[in-house]
Amino acid sequence: MSSAGVTALSPLGREPRQYSGGEKNDGVDHEADGDIVPRKVPDRGFSLEPLIVNPKIQLSPVIWDMLNSTFDGLNAGHYPMRSMDGTGGVYFIMDSLGQNYVSVFKPIDEEPMAVNNPRGLPMSSDGEGLKRGTRVGEGAFREVAAYILDHPKGGHHSSFGYEKGFAGVPPTSMVKCFHRGFNHPGDLTVKIGSLQMFMENNGSCEDMGPGSFPVKEVHKISVLDIRLANADRHAGNILLSKEGEDGQTILLPIDHGYCLPETFEDCTFEWLYWPQARQPYSAETVDYIRSLDAEEDIALLRFHGWDLPLECARTLRISTMLLKKGVERGLTPFAIGNIMCRKTLRKESTIEEIVQEAQDSVLPGTSEATFLDSVSQIMDRYLDEIAGLPSS
Ligand SMILES: Nc1ncnc2c1ncn2[C@@H]1O[C@H](COP(=O)(O)OP(=O)(O)OP(=O)(O)O)[C@@H](O)[C@H]1O
Ligand SMILES: [Mg+2]
Repeated sequence: MSSAGVTALSPLGREPRQYSGGEKNDGVDHEADGDIVPRKVPDRGFSLEPLIVNPKIQLSPVIWDMLNSTFDGLNAGHYPMRSMDGTGGVYFIMDSLGQNYVSVFKPIDEEPMAVNNPRGLPMSSDGEGLKRGTRVGEGAFREVAAYILDHPKGGHHSSFGYEKGFAGVPPTSMVKCFHRGFNHPGDLTVKIGSLQMFMENNGSCEDMGPGSFPVKEVHKISVLDIRLANADRHAGNILLSKEGEDGQTILLPIDHGYCLPETFEDCTFEWLYWPQARQPYSAETVDYIRSLDAEEDIALLRFHGWDLPLECARTLRISTMLLKKGVERGLTPFAIGNIMCRKTLRKESTIEEIVQEAQDSVLPGTSEATFLDSVSQIMDRYLDEIAGLPSS
């Protein structure tokens, strides 16, 4: 895919945008392989374009809208503002009037432990990210994956309309963006990263106790975190907003750069000890969980350009299995989430024990399907015991 002058026709019938901010560049193609190549500064001082690896993918209107307003904001000369929070380079981008933020850009080379991290975190020595079982530079894929997999009830995100996902992960897309306002300790470079819709909010769960959070809101986050084996669900990564006349609290899950890790070691869920987590899932949520299909999810991510490494695919398969088997036994979010989290740093979680037992029970070279069968049987035994059922 060439970076120079991608003209984008907004499906909403708005003016076509030229998604590259200037004159013809150095002629170097910047393929979607994660390489970041120094290049000439465009005249306009910035460039922005969606990074689409599969030409069959049509971006949805909500993503186009975000791209258009981000482009307009940069074009109006508003500099990206670096967030004071967080461990990586996180940039807020304004609308053309400079009144509201419209998107959040997280470049992969500024992730924690990546080469251009603006917070001076040490670089990873072996490529492993801040959380066990994640890789430096893959955070943006994971951010986009969380949005893609956060299916609305009864379907997938469509290319035509916009329906909020079950858990409400903000619309997120991969982009290439050039701006001198990003962190460039060396050469000025085009950056690849995730662009996420900015969500108006009243702070995060760090600012408020969970007492007033509706049960449904807590449960939707729990479903997302268990499915994706989220290793970074601390209170700062759930934003708060109010909805409707009665000002109901809405929880907005953000920051999914450490979901789908290769191992379950670092899974932590802020909501685990909230009282709402001890209540059973509603029939509606159980229906949603029953509709989940890890194989479909893996295929969907592949279609969007992320061929999950075997270990991460295994995580998704096992966590989806756990969630489904858990709700069939009437287990609460707490009971299921508790299986995934370590009680102390050194003591392995129940899910780690299950995986280990399965590993010990199969011969080397066994197929993934046979291994997962073994996980399934061992998981049944553990879950029956937790649910107080006679062994099935
Ligand atoms: N979509 C969004 N809408 C509004 N604000 C956001 C959004 N995404 C991030 N933020 C704000 O930016 C801050 C930093 O973002 P984020 O948590 O994604 O970064 P991080 O460096 O990965 O953080 P962490 O330290 O949790 O790993 C958040 O705490 C939040 O205040
Ligand atoms: Mg964060």
